[in-house]
Amino acid sequence: MSPTEDAHGVQVFDDAESVARAAAETFVRLSLEAVEGRGAFSVALSGGTTPRRVYELLASDEYRARVRWPKAHVFFGDERAVPPDHSDSNYRTAREALLSRVDIPAENVHRIEGLGDAAANASDYESVMRSFFGDATWPRFDLVLLGMGDDGHTASLFPETSALGEARAWVAANWVEKLGAWRITLTAPAVNAARRAVFLVTGASKAERLREVLNGARDPSRLPSQMIRPRDGLLEWYVDRAAAAKLG
Ligand code: 6PG
Repeated sequence: MSPTEDAHGVQVFDDAESVARAAAETFVRLSLEAVEGRGAFSVALSGGTTPRRVYELLASDEYRARVRWPKAHVFFGDERAVPPDHSDSNYRTAREALLSRVDIPAENVHRIEGLGDAAANASDYESVMRSFFGDATWPRFDLVLLGMGDDGHTASLFPETSALGEARAWVAANWVEKLGAWRITLTAPAVNAARRAVFLVTGASKAERLREVLNGARDPSRLPSQMIRPRDGLLEWYVDRAAAAKLG
């Protein structure tokens, strides 16, 4: 059944599977448009659990052949301070569910280093992105996939953390007190330079925060997902009925 859509570009789907399928379709469509129009497709993958089904679908017989993987460049929106084979690694999730199952050249997969000095890892990753995007002021991804935490964070832009104030860096090392850990994350201005940013939000546990982020007072330091507003691009929300339950 086709989703209902509201003025915010929020599309409400019946369930998480329908959200994942819509995201896979958007990924395929934007990848073809980018390759045809610009010769390559650049995407920043989201971490967390919600996008895993999207990655599995893209690696499936139903979708795999519809993407020109040799022309795709895969980046990450954020990473945890863990090694790439750790169960908490966003890279590992993407590798297992997608990247190891499609013919994308290894050099087109741009992993964030989670181990070691977080500030150094952040600036190294920014250098990797600058060598791909050239001397642009900001990286212009064709697609940035995002999730939203129960606290309103996105990527690793957590409430009341230093990375929220980043106005120049593309990538930031962000100390998250409540996790007692460093995270490496794209900054909001870097995400907001994208042609398309798509939030994937499912499950009843997200309903109250989603209502606040979309319909509540503007308070980005408490609700960092509100910081995502592409300057010259499209923002979409793919949510399931459970997450949309309080949107009215
Ligand atoms: C991460 C993500 C993070 C995630 C949200 C939602 O590294 O954890 O980038 O921003 O998208 O925490 O996570 P779930 O999809 O698991 O609910």
